[in-house]
Amino acid sequence: ARKIIIDTDPGIDDAMAILFAFQAPQLEVLGLTTTFGNVSVDLATQNAIKLTEIAQVTVPVAKGVAVPSHIAPRPHPDFVHGKDGFGNINLPAPAGSAIDKSAAQFIVDTVRAFPGEVTIIALGPLGNLAKALELDPEVADLVDEVVLMGGTAIEYGNVSPVAEANIMNDPHAADKVFTAPWQVTMIGLDVTHQVLLDNDILSRIKQANPEEGGFLFDCAQYYIDFYSSRFDMNGCYFHDASTIAYVMDPSIFGVELGAVRVACEGIGIGQTIFAPQGMSFPEPHWNDVPMTQVCMEVDSEKLLTLFETTLS
Ligand code: BDR
Ligand code: CA
Repeated sequence: ARKIIIDTDPGIDDAMAILFAFQAPQLEVLGLTTTFGNVSVDLATQNAIKLTEIAQVTVPVAKGVAVPSHIAPRPHPDFVHGKDGFGNINLPAPAGSAIDKSAAQFIVDTVRAFPGEVTIIALGPLGNLAKALELDPEVADLVDEVVLMGGTAIEYGNVSPVAEANIMNDPHAADKVFTAPWQVTMIGLDVTHQVLLDNDILSRIKQANPEEGGFLFDCAQYYIDFYSSRFDMNGCYFHDASTIAYVMDPSIFGVELGAVRVACEGIGIGQTIFAPQGMSFPEPHWNDVPMTQVCMEVDSEKLLTLFETTLS
């Protein structure tokens, strides 16, 4: 099985991704690391532990950064994920607790323990990954791949016309991640806005798997209400769980290679700027930037079928 660490801010779609990964026989989840984003880092940590208890797995949870690296924190989007991060279903607190190690240190130690074997899947703002690179720059060579949900190459943003939420929450950290010498795959709004998860699928998962499916169905209702009220759609977009599907079966996606950099100030702050491979520019910002794999196409039916069958 492929060894993964999931860096996360649960979050309703983070919960979908994490339970999906726990059920996938192709994946071995070595740990969850948490960050602020959809909720505070303390609540994200509680929620991550709760997910391990719902899935009845023993997976360490390491708490990470509480605030962005260089900008003021933005408010938590409780109108999208609820005050509890799970659509206001108000579950009791988890029994377990986080390990006594920071998220960044956990990432470094785990990657060093399995050189070349660990894939980091990032579902929130990228502060923990940037910190891991600061603690130990060699992790970039030792990681198998970084697969992140965030950004957009040509689709509109979701927190500004050009910015996606995870990148906007810590643009400097994101720029560090996109310019470090590791293999990054970006799964952004270009593809996640092409996939619609609806209540038909969630009800079938609930029927087949009442414990996890029931929990996902309950928290998804608030999320679906948000998307249906804001956009002309009957369901929700499929953000974080797309990364898990990518790691299980990359053939579901079509990728383009290019340099990605992040705008760190001004009205374009948080924008992921995509320069397709082969283009060259006199501006120095574009020299020697490693190639990111940017997902631009997705087989939505295949993706949703993989999600449903794995969780059922
Ligand atoms: C991303 O932002 C968060 O609200 C979601 O959990 C997802 O990671 C989508 O823009
Ligand atoms: Ca997330």
